[in-house]
Amino acid sequence: MLSVVVLAAGQGTRMHSILPKVLHPIGGRAMLGHVLDAARALHPDALYVVHGHDGARLRAALPEPDIRWVEQATPLGTGHALQQALPAIADEHHILVLCGDVPLVRMQTLQRLRQTAGENVGLLSVVLADPSGYGRIVRDASGQVEAIVEERDASAAQRAIQEVNTGILCLPAAGVRGWLNEVRRNNAQGEHYLTDVIALAREHGVAVCPLVTSDPIEVQGVNDRAQLALVERAHQQREAHRLMRAGVSLMDPARFDVRGRLVCGIDVTIDVNCIFKGEVEIADGVSIGPNCCIRDSRIGANARIASHCDIEGAIIEAESQVGPFARLRPGTRMAAGAKIGNFVETKNAAIGIGSKVNHLSYIGDTELGSGVNVGAGTITCNYDGANKHRTVIEDDAFIGSGTQLVAPVRIGRGATIGAGSTIRRDAPADELTLSGTLQKTLAGWRRPKKKPKPEG
Ligand code: UD1
Ligand code: CA
Repeated sequence: MLSVVVLAAGQGTRMHSILPKVLHPIGGRAMLGHVLDAARALHPDALYVVHGHDGARLRAALPEPDIRWVEQATPLGTGHALQQALPAIADEHHILVLCGDVPLVRMQTLQRLRQTAGENVGLLSVVLADPSGYGRIVRDASGQVEAIVEERDASAAQRAIQEVNTGILCLPAAGVRGWLNEVRRNNAQGEHYLTDVIALAREHGVAVCPLVTSDPIEVQGVNDRAQLALVERAHQQREAHRLMRAGVSLMDPARFDVRGRLVCGIDVTIDVNCIFKGEVEIADGVSIGPNCCIRDSRIGANARIASHCDIEGAIIEAESQVGPFARLRPGTRMAAGAKIGNFVETKNAAIGIGSKVNHLSYIGDTELGSGVNVGAGTITCNYDGANKHRTVIEDDAFIGSGTQLVAPVRIGRGATIGAGSTIRRDAPADELTLSGTLQKTLAGWRRPKKKPKPEG
C-alpha cells in the first residue's frame, strides 16, 4: 500500500511573490501539478498535499478530486509537515514523500526508489558540483548512509560532501510515526526536520537504502525565480525532445515553448520562437513559421501557418494557409484550402472551402461560403454599439476591396460587391451591387492652400 505525501506548506519567501510558490507555472501548469502527475503515475492508494495558510488558493488552482488536503497551520519544519498527514495513514503503508517545489521528478525514478527501499527507508540523493543550500548525505566508513545534515548545521568537513538530499524519501508509516516523535528542534533553524529520521531509522535497525540519481535537473528544487527559469527551460527541453523523437522538426529546440499540451503528427515543422498554450493539436505535414502564438486550436494536415500569427480557439482544416501576421480569434473555423492573409483579424467566423481573405480585413460573426473572395480592407461591421450581428456571404461571392458590410446582412451566391461600398441591405445573388456616390469630377476645384503664418 502506498501513500504519497507532497510537502507544500513552506512559505517560499525567496520567490518574493503574492502567488504561493508551488503555484508558479512550469510549462503552463502549476509546479505542484507536475509533482502530483508524477505521483499519480505510481497509482498510489492515497495522495496527500500538506499546505499552509494559502490552502484555499491551492485548492482553487488544483481542483483535482483525488487530492487529500492536509493543513499545517504553522510551518515548523518538514518533519512536522509530514506529521500532519500521518494520522490518516495506516501503519502498513509506505509513504513516498515528495516536495511541491521539485517539479521535474520522473515517475520512473520514483518507481526505482520504491523498489530500492523495499520494506526499509529509501532516500533519493544526487551528487552536485555545488552542493550549497542542500542537506548533505553523511556516510560511514563502509559507505552506509548514517544521517542527513542540513547545511546550516554541518561542520566544515560535512559541507565539503557533494552528495545531497533531494528531499524525496520513501518511509514505512509505522516506523516514521515513532521516529518523528523523537525528532527535536535543536538545530540552527529551530525546525522539526524530516531529515533527522534517517539517523533514527538506522538507530532502530532499519536499513537506509540510497538511490543516487544521475540527472540533477530532475531533483532541482525551486526556491527562487532563477531556479524557476532553469527548471522551465529543462521542462521545455524535455517537451522538445519528446516531439522530435515522434517526428517533429524543430528549427531550434531551445527556442520553443509549450505551455499546456501539444500533440503533433509526423513531418510537422516548427520554426523558432513559437509558443503553444492550452490544448493544441497539429496534424501531419503542417508547417509553422517563426514567432507564432497558438492557443487551444486544431490545425489540419499540410496547413501552412506563416510567421507572426496569433491563433486562439481556431479550427483550421487541411491545406489551409494563414498569415503572415494574421490574428485568428476564438470561433474561427477555416474549411479545407481556405486562406487568411496578412493583417487579417477573424473572430467567430466560418471561412468556407477554398475561400480567401487575403489582406487587411476584419471578419467577425460571419459565415463565408466556399469559393468566396474578400478583397483587401473589407470590414464586417458586426457591432452596433450594443449588440453583435451576423454577416452571411454565400458561395462564390466577390467582395471588392475597402467594403464595409453592415450586419445583419447577407450577400447572395455569386454576388459581386463594388470596391469601396458600404452595404447596409442584403445584396442579391449573381448581381453587381455598389453603394456611395459614383465617381464624378468637379471642374475648377482647387486644393485649399495653407495660410501664411502672421509675421512677428
Ligand atoms: C529540504 C531538506 C534538505 C534537502 C532540500 C532539497 C529538510 C530539513 N531539508 O531543504 O535536506 O536538501 O529540501 O530540496 O527537510 N515544507 C513544509 N512545511 C514546513 C517546511 C517545509 O511543507 O514547515 C515543505 C516546503 O513547502 C517544500 C519542502 O517542504 O516543498 C522543503 O522545504 P524547504 O524549506 O524548501 O527545505 P529546504 O531548505 O530546501
Ligand atoms: Ca526547497
